[in-house]
Amino acid sequence: MSIISNCTVSSIKDVATTLINGDLVAFPTETVYGLGADATNDDAIARIYKAKGRPEGHPLIVHISSLGNLDKWARDIPEYAVNLARAFWPGPMTLILPRTDLAKDFITGGQDNVGIRIPSHTIALALLKEFEDQGGLGVAAPSANRFGAVSPTTATAVEIELADYLSENDQILDGGPCVVGVESTIINCTHSKPSILRPGAVTKEMIENTLGITIELNTSNSESIQIKAAGLLESHYAPSAKVFLTGSPNLGDGFIALDSFTTPAGAVRIAAPKTNEEYAQVLYEAFRLADIKGLRRVFVIPPTGGGIAVAINDRLAKSAFEK
Ligand code: TXA
Ligand code: MG
Repeated sequence: MSIISNCTVSSIKDVATTLINGDLVAFPTETVYGLGADATNDDAIARIYKAKGRPEGHPLIVHISSLGNLDKWARDIPEYAVNLARAFWPGPMTLILPRTDLAKDFITGGQDNVGIRIPSHTIALALLKEFEDQGGLGVAAPSANRFGAVSPTTATAVEIELADYLSENDQILDGGPCVVGVESTIINCTHSKPSILRPGAVTKEMIENTLGITIELNTSNSESIQIKAAGLLESHYAPSAKVFLTGSPNLGDGFIALDSFTTPAGAVRIAAPKTNEEYAQVLYEAFRLADIKGLRRVFVIPPTGGGIAVAINDRLAKSAFEK
């Protein structure tokens, strides 16, 4: 495995060729780093599952560079989904749509739908465009972490998570820290009305304002959703330290809260974001820091309100879930 830190036109070309050759590339997006592979290559996709230690049958998001490629992967696209795509792509949003034959079972987990995203990160877009110029059709990319662990928001975090599981020809593209910090909003577009399966930086309020309707936040594991999503498992996004969302820290416990909260006596402050946006941006690195410091317990004061706070609270609830 090699790490590419100078993202020049020629290095992006080479990295795109790595994907075309069926090897894996971890790359930055605005949300978190993804572990990418050619979405039409069965063997390459199998390697993603192996590297992540992810159970089979969990579907992957296909990343494309522009709306022009959407109908290669998805069909019967509802009008509201087109409106969402126009409003929020490129950006931190994934649409679940009915699949075409190109989206094989090894991408969709055998479901009749496929998750599609156009990321806005300059390097991600350049890589996807170059991959398509070299004949590729889409890049499948789950978050570049081991299954159930915290998503990486820096190239170093990817290295810590996956170095032992990547092969010689695989690459990590270093594009600096991710600006959003939590994974994309996933919207189910397979019914007459959209619903949110995973909250993210494209918020319920933003979607409702764009479409002029009210929508459901449906992140439970209810059978009626009939959609499989690894991030919907109750325990996920978890550091090794035990996460508490209530109670107060003792001597040597970690503490995460907005800057306006003072650190309780004896606690180790591991993040003090000034806004909820910054809270999302730093949360996963704070969890990693807790593990690097060998903390056994981390106490968190969750953010309040709507917007991005909903996504942060969703991840916090899952990271604190008793395994
Ligand atoms: O921000 C993101 O979405 C990042 C970056 C790399 O794009 N990717 C990401 O992928 O978070 P992953 O695989 O770690 O999480 C995607 C979630 C999983 O829970 C997966 O099961 C769900 O999306 N998913 C993907 N395709 C789906 C589909 N067709 N139906 C239902 N859920 C799907
Ligand atoms: Mg993930």
